[in-house]
Amino acid sequence: MHGETKVPGTQGYGEHAATLSERYDRVDVLALYAEAWPYFPAPPAPVLDLGAGSGRDAAFFAQRGHPVTAVEPCAPLRQAAQAKHLDPGVDWLDSSLPALEGLTAHYALVLVAAVWMHLDLKERQAAMPAVAARLAPAGLLHISLRHGPIPLGRRMFAVTTEETVALAERCGLTPIANWAQAPQQRGNQKAGVHFSTLLFRQAGP
Ligand SMILES: C[S@@+](CC[C@H](N)C(=O)[O-])C[C@H]1O[C@@H](n2cnc3c(N)ncnc32)[C@H](O)[C@@H]1O
Repeated sequence: MHGETKVPGTQGYGEHAATLSERYDRVDVLALYAEAWPYFPAPPAPVLDLGAGSGRDAAFFAQRGHPVTAVEPCAPLRQAAQAKHLDPGVDWLDSSLPALEGLTAHYALVLVAAVWMHLDLKERQAAMPAVAARLAPAGLLHISLRHGPIPLGRRMFAVTTEETVALAERCGLTPIANWAQAPQQRGNQKAGVHFSTLLFRQAGP
């Protein structure tokens, strides 16, 4: 396993972990996944949350009865999440994209929420097969892409729906739907940040 300094995408998160964690926890999960709920598996399907941040989504899915694995490479964020969300249904792991070291199980739902833009092209090319490999047969990948200005001190890259679909299809995933999504956080609204959400299905059994 590795710590924050070895994962370039986590640059700028650790020193503001407390503030960011609170901010992420204020996002309304029901609204965040409003369009996607009809596609999501019923509990107790195993869920993998990659780049879990404050643990908001991990805790929410665990409370609904899903066993959840939450991966977060930024130690201060992960520790804040573990201290706040004491749900026994969440297993926390210090790992990161693209390698996803330490993960061997398969999941009915994989969440990659506002994380993909932290990976450069080479990392995205390596990350998609690693993510696809974690999907159970007929498993669902929910990935949201952040577009817009890069906050000071962060490492982010331009990501597109087209490239993401092409990478996923190369891994045998089928695109199910995609849509544009407005940000909930006021800072993001002011900065002109917006999101694309994409759903992919792994081949069935
Ligand atoms: C904008 S936050 C989103 C957090 C959470 N998914 C949410 O929706 O609130 C981006 C997260 O990605 C994590 N991250 C950055 N690089 C990563 C990588 N290479 N692998 C996994 N997570 C990464 C950061 O530490 C941070 O928690």
